[in-house]
Amino acid sequence: MSEITVRPLGEDDWQDFRAVRLAALSESPEAFAAEAAKEESYDESFWRERMNRSNRLIAEQNGAAVGVVSVGQAKVSDGSAGELFGLWVRPEARGTGVATHLVKNGASLARQRGQSHLVYWVGTDNGRAVAFASGMGFRPTDFRRPMRIASEEDGDEEVAMVLALGEDVGPQPRL
Ligand SMILES: CC(C)(COP(=O)(O)OP(=O)(O)OC[C@H]1O[C@@H](n2cnc3c(N)ncnc32)[C@H](O)[C@@H]1OP(=O)(O)O)[C@@H](O)C(=O)NCCC(=O)NCCS
Repeated sequence: MSEITVRPLGEDDWQDFRAVRLAALSESPEAFAAEAAKEESYDESFWRERMNRSNRLIAEQNGAAVGVVSVGQAKVSDGSAGELFGLWVRPEARGTGVATHLVKNGASLARQRGQSHLVYWVGTDNGRAVAFASGMGFRPTDFRRPMRIASEEDGDEEVAMVLALGEDVGPQPRL
């Protein structure tokens, strides 16, 4: 098995991000709020702006993208938490540590920004993602919200899972 590397993307890498993001939306429509057909129509300026809105990381193996994650600012008032979202690993590469590499790099980024926690909203029905996040040390919270996915039936929910990033982490963020 060849080495997995994680590359933080800049604005000029928007085409690399676009390709893996569209692959994620097409392969796992049940996991994401956005639709591939809609995002396919967005122009270059949209993608360039998107690259600057949050940090984008892709995992690569043998020169090909095998996974992606984004890290932004969680919607908490004091800026103390980062938010991990848009996590996806190519099906053939699942169970090989790609997601672990992506999340570890995402957590480092948030830590470098001085953030004490990383928030990850995940579908309560997404057993694999919940199991993965638990294995990485994310703890479930009481915070829930409806899934924002057109194809989901009413009543499906996401749970906020939170990872403490340091040793002296203070209280959990209020979401
Ligand atoms: C979620 C995702 C990124 C995790 O990456 P992965 O490579 O599959 O993760 P891993 O295999 O390292 O870990 C998954 C864990 O779930 C377990 N698992 C596998 N299938 C499972 C299932 N159907 N239900 C519950 N747990 C499951 C694995 O055994 C593993 O647990 P372990 O670490 O204790 O052995 C990947 O599955 C994915 O891209 N899924 C589709 C997109 C998605 O749902 N993204 C999350 C959006 S919030």
